[in-house]
Amino acid sequence: MSQKSLVGVFSGLRSPAAKARPCGRGIGFCVVVLLRWRYRDGSGPGWRGIVRLMSERDDIYSGNPGEVGDFRFDERVVKVFPDMISRSVPGYGLMVPLIGLLARRFVQPGSNVYDLGCSLGAATLAMRRAIAYDDVQIVAVDVSQAMVKRCCEIVAEDNSRVPVSVSLGDVRDADIDNASVIVLNFTLQFLAPAERQALISRLYQGLNAGGALILSEKLHFEDAAEQQLQTDWHHDFKRSQGYSDLEIARKRTALENVMVTDSQAEHRQRLAKAGFEQVYCWFRCFSFASLIAIK
Ligand SMILES: C[S@@+](CC[C@H](N)C(=O)[O-])C[C@H]1O[C@@H](n2cnc3c(N)ncnc32)[C@H](O)[C@@H]1O
Repeated sequence: MSQKSLVGVFSGLRSPAAKARPCGRGIGFCVVVLLRWRYRDGSGPGWRGIVRLMSERDDIYSGNPGEVGDFRFDERVVKVFPDMISRSVPGYGLMVPLIGLLARRFVQPGSNVYDLGCSLGAATLAMRRAIAYDDVQIVAVDVSQAMVKRCCEIVAEDNSRVPVSVSLGDVRDADIDNASVIVLNFTLQFLAPAERQALISRLYQGLNAGGALILSEKLHFEDAAEQQLQTDWHHDFKRSQGYSDLEIARKRTALENVMVTDSQAEHRQRLAKAGFEQVYCWFRCFSFASLIAIK
């Protein structure tokens, strides 16, 4: 592929219903087709800089304590998402650039890199800036139209040269092919537990030998005392970030039916069943952990 060719065309969703609707409907362009251009490592503000300009403060659960509906990744959440995730997930601000470093080590020339459940593209941009090959493509997918729309805008603001395609789609339908790095950064926990093994097994099949799956999740703990401590520590963290007890309680209720966590042992069993023999926990902050599974 030539340096200046249009790249990043994504057509990798299997089911006709979920056939790639890159960047969502009515956004004006069908695929984020980004020119490989400008600076090798990408200058410009970077994801943090970009989102600082675009994120509002998360006060979604600070209003009237009426009935709390299920959490959704909608327009309202998109507006505050960078603020929300960095004040809710301890260690998130460190994890994201470190995912870039891991990607740099595991990426293979001529391969695809996937960011599944990309939200606003934090991991995508971290990897884009870290990857040193010219012939690699990053494929970012999310099922939320509002997320994909904003992600397209953020990716377009970044000057790095690795091509990125951002697509609206369900990870359960995504074709994974010739992959050297796959990132599921706090996405698997939003799939029904019964559907998780099939996805992880398919990701294993799509990975090249020597490739890596980076799987970040909130964990739960079999030991009740540890679970209580971990919950307390997480809430302490959220309080330290300015969330009130009411906001913490309401968000917890909103997530109850939407986000179902596994223990680290359950993740390891699933990864082993898929075929991964090398699985390491490379990051952990309270109940938030990231595993790397190498094929
Ligand atoms: C906690 S956010 C992920 C954060 C993001 N990976 C990051 O590093 O900033 C979870 C994301 O997964 C997406 N998601 C949930 N279920 C999905 C599915 N079945 N297919 C694709 N995306 C999904 C949501 O729309 C949301 O944007």
